[in-house]
Amino acid sequence: MSDAPTLVSSAHFDYIAERTAGDDAFLADLKQAARDAGIPPIWVNAAQLSFMQVLLKLVGAREVLEVGTLAGSTAIGLARALPEGGRVRTVELEPKHASFAEDWVARSDVAERVQVIRGAGQDVLPALPDGELDALFLDADKAGYVDYVEQGRRLLRPGGLLMVDNAFAFGQLFDDTPTDREAGAVRAFNDRMASQAHGDDAPFQAIIVPLGDGMWVGVRR
Ligand SMILES: C[S@@+](CC[C@H](N)C(=O)[O-])C[C@H]1O[C@@H](n2cnc3c(N)ncnc32)[C@H](O)[C@@H]1O
Repeated sequence: MSDAPTLVSSAHFDYIAERTAGDDAFLADLKQAARDAGIPPIWVNAAQLSFMQVLLKLVGAREVLEVGTLAGSTAIGLARALPEGGRVRTVELEPKHASFAEDWVARSDVAERVQVIRGAGQDVLPALPDGELDALFLDADKAGYVDYVEQGRRLLRPGGLLMVDNAFAFGQLFDDTPTDREAGAVRAFNDRMASQAHGDDAPFQAIIVPLGDGMWVGVRR
């Protein structure tokens, strides 16, 4: 055994993808329709979704909140990991995305378990009651992440699951002059998370998992 990790390459990610359940026909059709509608294909990939489904099952999640719906594929995937009576609420600011997602959720096998909430995460999260979430997935405006995690401290029950996408800043984490306007916000967020993710008083125990564009995974203490 060594402390040094195995250096992974794109071949390893291909290897993982080949050994992970991919999209079923419904999600593949949804994604094609989203592309055709001009919605950007910036959803989490199938390996990430599979990982998130495993985590939801491990914590026995019933009440899940996603911030950033896009086309609804991930909300549908998350809902499929919940038991009977479980619910995914997903918050979307862009009306075109919300309408597309509502349409496809209604046609899905988990239509009863997914609710699209129109609006900004900044407005929706503060209106929710303390401790009612088993899991929170952040995948919207990166400048909002710090506030969303502050809300997550309040909204997640002890032992609840926090997941936050794009810790690798769209692949630009180490760029001297990143072109993505949100890269700086991601770096600041990562540093903030790191400062609150360790120690007995920390609100979360959390770590970045190198799947997709990097995902923070944490548990509410
Ligand atoms: C990366 S996409 C979400 C992808 C989705 N989670 C998935 O995996 O399929 C980000 C979404 O967040 C939405 N968004 C941006 N700012 C937001 C805000 N303040 N509140 C809610 N949604 C927001 C965007 O319109 C976009 O649809």
